[in-house]
Amino acid sequence: MASRRLLVDIHTHVYLPRYASILRSRDSAPRISTGKSGEERLLILDNEPSGGRPVGPQYWDREEKLQFMSKHSIDISVVSSANPWLDFLPPRDASILAQNLNEDLEAYCSTSPTVAGCALRQLYGFGLLPLVPGVTTTDLLKAVEQVSKLPHLKGIIMGTRGIGRGLDDDALEPVWAAIEQSGLVAFLHPHYGVGTEQWGEKPNGHVLPLSLGFPFETTIATTRLILSGTFDRYPALRLLLAHSGGALPQLSSRLASCIDHDPVVALRLKHDARHYLGKLYFDAVAYGPEELGFVSDVIARAAKYTGLSERDRSFGSKRIMFGTDHPFFPPLTTTDKWQSVVENLDAIADVRGWSDEAKAGVRGGNALELFGLLQTV
Ligand code: URA
Ligand code: ZN
Repeated sequence: MASRRLLVDIHTHVYLPRYASILRSRDSAPRISTGKSGEERLLILDNEPSGGRPVGPQYWDREEKLQFMSKHSIDISVVSSANPWLDFLPPRDASILAQNLNEDLEAYCSTSPTVAGCALRQLYGFGLLPLVPGVTTTDLLKAVEQVSKLPHLKGIIMGTRGIGRGLDDDALEPVWAAIEQSGLVAFLHPHYGVGTEQWGEKPNGHVLPLSLGFPFETTIATTRLILSGTFDRYPALRLLLAHSGGALPQLSSRLASCIDHDPVVALRLKHDARHYLGKLYFDAVAYGPEELGFVSDVIARAAKYTGLSERDRSFGSKRIMFGTDHPFFPPLTTTDKWQSVVENLDAIADVRGWSDEAKAGVRGGNALELFGLLQTV
């Protein structure tokens, strides 16, 4: 029961030192450059406003991660490499770097302090696959095997491009099969955004790509996985969606209706589209109680499409987990608490219709269960 009260952050990133030094050696995005007074800036996309964002040790230093956790009473973080992962590398380099970064992340986690009062570490991780055009299936499968054997790595983070043709690419079938078989959690996270041609010419900084482009990228990638029947072929696949699944929960009934009117797709799928929403996992990085309540309603409703009677909001909350997106969006002064922590915790506390037990699950219990950490408590 004590485990139910832990606060677990499942959406928190690191640019491991080995990766950061590669970014420093580059002269095009993604890169880290040094300004005249020694300050570093991270440019992850060519068209980013103000030449990228200022970065410091909170992006790579483990002590900073632990201090951030302590400041916000986060007991455990399941840390993932941040975007754009290995996307810019040729296949051989990507395979070697994935292997090295997976080992680095295992060391980063396995030597972290234990959580007071139990055998858990404070840090666990999501490993990487060399998902780049031209990589061999053998290298991808080797990476899945490597991650599954590293005891503190509990999943794999991936972008939406796969090996160049998206995640519904037939060439990735053996990879999905291996991920399902391994029991690793696949964490789907955006990087490129979509719809840049819609952003107009006003000085809106990074607001439109981050608030809309990112979540729509996740929405489209997940929808393509649904449409390709991936969840029918790999029903035990555990896919976690960044930013609460973007627009997918809101659009899922429209998606179901469009499928119904398209016999080619409808005949391909075993279930109504809304069924698949209930097979997914969602972070709680949505910043508002109404949005979280809505996502849990959509998850609960999915039970109806598996022949179960409709369940309540608390039932739906079981697939939702607290996250912060640290170290992005830092506060303006070092003494401030991070807005992404405060707002996302407040949102969980304020969801109408979630029982106290459901809220404790979203704060930590659900993650412990998903990542197989309950038995370690
Ligand atoms: N959050 C991320 O994970 N990546 C970004 O680039 C910005 C916010
Ligand atoms: Zn993120």
